[in-house]
Amino acid sequence: MKIAVVGTGYVGLVTGTCFSELGNHVTCVDIDEKKINKLKSGEIPIYEPGLDVLFDRNVKANRLEFTTDLEQGVSGAKVIFLALPTPPGEDGSADLKYVVKVADDLGSLLKDYAVIVDKSTVPVGTAEKVRARIAKNAKVDFDVVSNPEFLREGVAVEDFMKPDRVVVGTSSLKATSIMDALYAPLVRQGNPIIFMDERSAELTKYAANSFLATKITFMNEIANMCELLGANVDDVRRGVGTDSRIGKRFLFAGIGYGGSCFPKDVQALAKSAQEVAYEFKILNSVMEINQKQKTKLVSKIKQHFNNQLSDKTIAIWGLAFKPYTDDIREAPSLYNIEELLKEGAKVKAHDPEAMENVRQIMGDKIELFEDQYETLEGADALLIVTEWPVFRQPEFDIMETKMKNKVIFDGRNLYKVEQLKSLGFTYYSIGRNEIHV
Ligand SMILES: NC(=O)c1ccc[n+]([C@@H]2O[C@H](COP(=O)([O-])OP(=O)(O)OC[C@H]3O[C@@H](n4cnc5c(N)ncnc54)[C@H](O)[C@@H]3O)[C@@H](O)[C@H]2O)c1
Repeated sequence: MKIAVVGTGYVGLVTGTCFSELGNHVTCVDIDEKKINKLKSGEIPIYEPGLDVLFDRNVKANRLEFTTDLEQGVSGAKVIFLALPTPPGEDGSADLKYVVKVADDLGSLLKDYAVIVDKSTVPVGTAEKVRARIAKNAKVDFDVVSNPEFLREGVAVEDFMKPDRVVVGTSSLKATSIMDALYAPLVRQGNPIIFMDERSAELTKYAANSFLATKITFMNEIANMCELLGANVDDVRRGVGTDSRIGKRFLFAGIGYGGSCFPKDVQALAKSAQEVAYEFKILNSVMEINQKQKTKLVSKIKQHFNNQLSDKTIAIWGLAFKPYTDDIREAPSLYNIEELLKEGAKVKAHDPEAMENVRQIMGDKIELFEDQYETLEGADALLIVTEWPVFRQPEFDIMETKMKNKVIFDGRNLYKVEQLKSLGFTYYSIGRNEIHV
């Protein structure tokens, strides 16, 4: 099948590459010339594990192509995916300007029936809006389908190739059969393609992300209670998560969720609720709590150093919003860095993949190091923000020789409290006892 993917970011590039791996001919379109030139020269502009192998194979086989020209990209395509940004607008609602712009342009470019698939996360009613915008200029029949994407950055290829489920919102029988055929190779193990109407599909994506953000936030509140009551959140998590009604995942306490999806999707759903005069109280609390949680360790750092950070150097391990990605959108690291700089602290940081992206927005406001241990040279304390596996079993003896003070603020509970106690570190984590040496 000939497929076009409009928007070649994290979702678009993974979608396009994976569909080409299944034998389809895919053209990825983007307005970012630099990005398209990189892709044409064989360079992947994002870090996503496993993507390179599939990318190389399908580019070589001429099944995966790139262009900045929308007309060329959609020419002959039976399915046209829209994987465009839907960032928060000023009032918190999803800004549809990118989606609407492409819908406006698409109508006159359609030469034959095509299914236009909304893969972006969009508010309820967007499929109808997109259909109306395309219809203004279209001379042929077409369908607009909602097909929200559930992949997680860091494991995006695996998620795409083996989805828990595929959600497709459409009321067209023709589009149903095309989408069914397209996704059939990905659901051979029996995971469902769930067909529903467009509005329900659009809401499903927001409901899923908001639920997960709420689950994380609930556990962060339990962690805060643990600190006040002298309980250990890791034990509580195990005790709670083994209940099959609750499940083990998304129960790890930490310094809040970030990324390009959860924050904006929770905000957008709350805004959608407001627009229909419904107050979604849980979501308002989730946003408020998460905002505080992100920098909760900065308060502890300040307290530890008697509110005097202007002569202190704080090392940071982890900048990406989660491991195995270079994405720093809404990353807790950025909020922590801003707060520390505001207090006059010097910040040195390391991340296995995200340093270039941070350099682009922070410039020389902080120092970045390729080596995680070099970051610690002369540091008064270490703040751990992202749970990259490489930070889980560090060389504590090297850390000890590099750091000015043996003080760790761990936002992801990477170490056992007892272990750090026996190594003689002062250790602050989330929802567990503090160790003061
Ligand atoms: N990143 C994720 O993990 C994830 C997961 C599920 C769903 N989503 C949703 O998918 C959508 C895309 O997210 P993303 O992370 O891939 O965004 P992204 O910013 O990485 O990529 C979007 C791309 O669209 C391009 N673009 C903008 N206007 C264009 C136009 N007129 N024509 C062609 N290209 C254009 C941009 O240049 C960019 O490369 C969002 O709605 C997001 O909420 C993202």
